[in-house]
Amino acid sequence: MHRPEQAAVRGLLRAVGEAFGGPVPREWQEALEAVPRHRFLPERIWLENGQGGYEPCDLQDNHLRWFDAAHADVPLVTQLNDGRASADAWPSSSASAPSVVVRMLCDLDVRPGMRVLEVGTGTGWNAALLAHRVGAGNVVSVEIDADVARQAGEALSGVEVICGDGADGWSRRAPYDRVVSTCSVRRVPWAWIEQTRPGGIVLTPWDNPMICWGLLRLTVGRNQAEGRFSPHSAFMLMRTQRQDLRIFRDVVRDEHVPAESRASLSPRLVTGDAWEARFALGLRLGDVWTAWEEDAARLWVATTDARCWAAVDDDGAVWQYGPRRLWDEVEEAHRWWEERDRPGPERFGLTVGAQGQRAWLDVPAQPVRT
Ligand SMILES: C[S@@+](CC[C@H](N)C(=O)[O-])C[C@H]1O[C@@H](n2cnc3c(N)ncnc32)[C@H](O)[C@@H]1O
Repeated sequence: MHRPEQAAVRGLLRAVGEAFGGPVPREWQEALEAVPRHRFLPERIWLENGQGGYEPCDLQDNHLRWFDAAHADVPLVTQLNDGRASADAWPSSSASAPSVVVRMLCDLDVRPGMRVLEVGTGTGWNAALLAHRVGAGNVVSVEIDADVARQAGEALSGVEVICGDGADGWSRRAPYDRVVSTCSVRRVPWAWIEQTRPGGIVLTPWDNPMICWGLLRLTVGRNQAEGRFSPHSAFMLMRTQRQDLRIFRDVVRDEHVPAESRASLSPRLVTGDAWEARFALGLRLGDVWTAWEEDAARLWVATTDARCWAAVDDDGAVWQYGPRRLWDEVEEAHRWWEERDRPGPERFGLTVGAQGQRAWLDVPAQPVRT
């Protein structure tokens, strides 16, 4: 490694240590030094433009900015809009923030010789770090986007890159000791559990229609997997679990006649920075999502099947439409959360069986939804 690269990697290790609140564990420090992140980044990355959008940063035109970004503890967008032209700019592939990558690698508890399946190859950096630790030939990584998979395959050695839907796992190389996903899921694919040996670990970022937040770490048993959430990370949702719903396009219709009532809870308490409330409500309600109207004075709440909706104004006026009274359900879920001392993600867990998944509070015998 050249001197500027060495200095930049040392700086990155310091930044990751600060985010961690302590030094990076030695095995991962060695991996970060041996597998520099910038070697996995494409020549064009996308940086936030300060106005909620992204601007390109090209290695050729702006080498210094590109190099600094590569060695900063920030996520870097490497693909927009699934690689297609679009009026909106939304990230569809990225190199996660190094401190998040290292945290997940530590949580995964991998050791030399273990067999690992990664879902969401992206740039290939995480897969390369894993291969450095467990050994060449022990990591297989599945990426859904053909261009992204091809580029990662070119950058990687000693890792098998498969282009396909990671929800199916990769049965040909099973059983695995560890499965790690770097895209979030709303439903944990049963294939991941089936393809992990008993005692193995499945680690995945979590998503819910209410909030994309948290990391789920499951230990695999004979017929099910069980584990807890932690309050780290927010990752893009698995492509095959995405749902594109818009209130005025898909849900609310002119002919709908809603029932009117009054709110006893401010809509601000279930949105924005109320992360822990949103996380708990997401698990309790299951299929409910929210969207602020553009002027941020009215909150819309709807089910993912688009059959029910509610609208709540800051002044407490409520309108509810459909077979369920959604705002009443939100208020009930919020009361449920307060009565249990406002639990954060660490107090929740999930059990996954072949028939589906079930969230619980504190212990599996206390289901979140009854
Ligand atoms: C946050 S990025 C991955 C970061 C990556 N591990 C790295 O080190 O750069 C998430 C990736 O998951 C991929 N992805 C989304 N849905 C997927 C699916 N169903 N199967 C496999 N990969 C998927 C995306 O295309 C994207 O490249």
